[in-house]
Amino acid sequence: MNFTFHTTPEIVFRSGSIREIGDLMGARFKRPILLTDKGLIEAGLVEPAIGSLEAAGVSILLFDDVAADPPAGKVKQAVNAARAHRADSVIGLGGGSSMDTAKVVSVLMNSEQSLEDIYGTDTVRGKRAPLALCPTTSGTGSEVTSISVITTEEDTKVAVVDNALYPDLAVLDPELTFGLPRHVTAATGIDAMVHAIEAYTNINRKNPVSDALAREALRLLSSNIVAACEKPGDRNAREAMMLGAMLAGQAFANSPVGAVHGMAYPLGGIFHVPHGLSNSLMLEPVLRFNAPNADHQYAELADVIAPGATGTHAQKCDAFIRRIVEIVEATGVERRLSQLGISHNDLPRMAEDAMKGQRVLQNNPRAVTYDDALAMYTEVL
Ligand SMILES: NC(=O)c1ccc[n+]([C@@H]2O[C@H](COP(=O)([O-])OP(=O)(O)OC[C@H]3O[C@@H](n4cnc5c(N)ncnc54)[C@H](O)[C@@H]3O)[C@@H](O)[C@H]2O)c1
Ligand SMILES: [Fe+2]
Repeated sequence: MNFTFHTTPEIVFRSGSIREIGDLMGARFKRPILLTDKGLIEAGLVEPAIGSLEAAGVSILLFDDVAADPPAGKVKQAVNAARAHRADSVIGLGGGSSMDTAKVVSVLMNSEQSLEDIYGTDTVRGKRAPLALCPTTSGTGSEVTSISVITTEEDTKVAVVDNALYPDLAVLDPELTFGLPRHVTAATGIDAMVHAIEAYTNINRKNPVSDALAREALRLLSSNIVAACEKPGDRNAREAMMLGAMLAGQAFANSPVGAVHGMAYPLGGIFHVPHGLSNSLMLEPVLRFNAPNADHQYAELADVIAPGATGTHAQKCDAFIRRIVEIVEATGVERRLSQLGISHNDLPRMAEDAMKGQRVLQNNPRAVTYDDALAMYTEVL
C-alpha cells in the first residue's frame, strides 16, 4: 500500500457558525476580501457573516460579482479588487464558483504569476494569503479540495490543482443551505455523489482513506438527497448533505474524478449548464460505459446504496446503476441535453472538447475515445 493524503487542516462544522465567523478567523484576517455572488446576497446569507466580521473589528471588502463557472476575466477583476483594497486575506462564501474564485485570488493577489501561469498541476509559486472557505451548497466540496475550476476566454474549463489551494479554514454551517432551491439542491447533491463514485473507481490514485470517505459520503448523500429536495428545512437531511459533500470532496481531492466530469465540462464551458446538472446528465451513460471495467467497484457500492442487492458482480453492478438512476429521477432534474437547448449539431464540438479533459479522463476505469464521447452525448440527447 502506498498513498499520501491531504485535506484542509481546520474544519468547523456547526449550525450557526457563519454568525461566529469573525471570531473563528482570529487575528489572521484583518483586511479580508469576501468573495460571493449576488444570489447569495439576495438570499440574505452574506449579511450575518459581514455582521460577525465587523463586530470582530475587521475591515472587509465585499466583492459580490463572482460568476458561475468562474470566467477568467471575472477572476482577474477580483484579484485587482483585492490588490486595490490591500487585502491581507481572502474569504470565499458561496457555492463552488465563489470558493474557487477565492482560492485563485488568495494565490495571485501577492504574486507575480498570472492566472494563465497557474493553469495545470503544481504550478503555484510562493505563499498564498490566508484563506477561509464557507460553502452554501452541498456539492463541490471545494472547501476541502486543492482544485479551482476556471472557464477560459475560449469557453474551455481548466483547473488549477495545487496543494496551496487547500484553505486554512473551512466553516460549514448547514443552516446556510435551508433556502437552497430544489433544483440547486438536486444538481449539487448529485455532483457530490459523482465525486464519491469517481473517487472510488479512480485507476491511478484510489486509496483506502478516500474509499472509506467515499462510501460514507455516498451513504449519507443517497439516503438524504430526496428528503432535502422535498423538505428544504429538514435539518437532519441538510446536515447529512453538507457532511456528505465534504467527505466526498476529501475523497476526490486525493483520488480525482473521471469521465462523468470529463464529459460534463463541455456542457458547462460551452452552454453554461450548471456544473451539478451537467454531471447528473452524463452520469448514467458513463456508469453503463464503465461497467465492463468497474463492475467490482460498483458492486461494492451497491452494498452502500442498494443493500438488498444480491447475486454476481454484474447483477450487483446493475442494481447499483438502477438505484442511482432512481435517485436522480426522484430529484426531478432534467434528463436530456435537448431540454437545455443542445442539438445534434452541437455534439461533435462537445466530444472534441471532452477529449481535452485528459486530466480527469486518465483516471477513468475505461478509456474514452472521441467516438465513445459522441455516442454517450447522443444517448442522452
Ligand atoms: N474546486 C472543486 O473541487 C470543485 C469541484 C466540483 C465543482 N467545482 C466547480 O464549482 C462550480 C459550481 O459550484 P456550485 O455547484 O456550488 O454552484 P455555484 O457556486 O455556481 O452556485 C450556483 C447558484 O446557486 C446559488 N446559491 C448557492 N448557494 C445558495 C444558497 N444557499 N441559497 C440560495 N442560492 C444559493 C448561487 O447564487 C448561484 O446562483 C463550477 O464552476 C464547478 O466547475 C469545483
Ligand atoms: Fe464536481
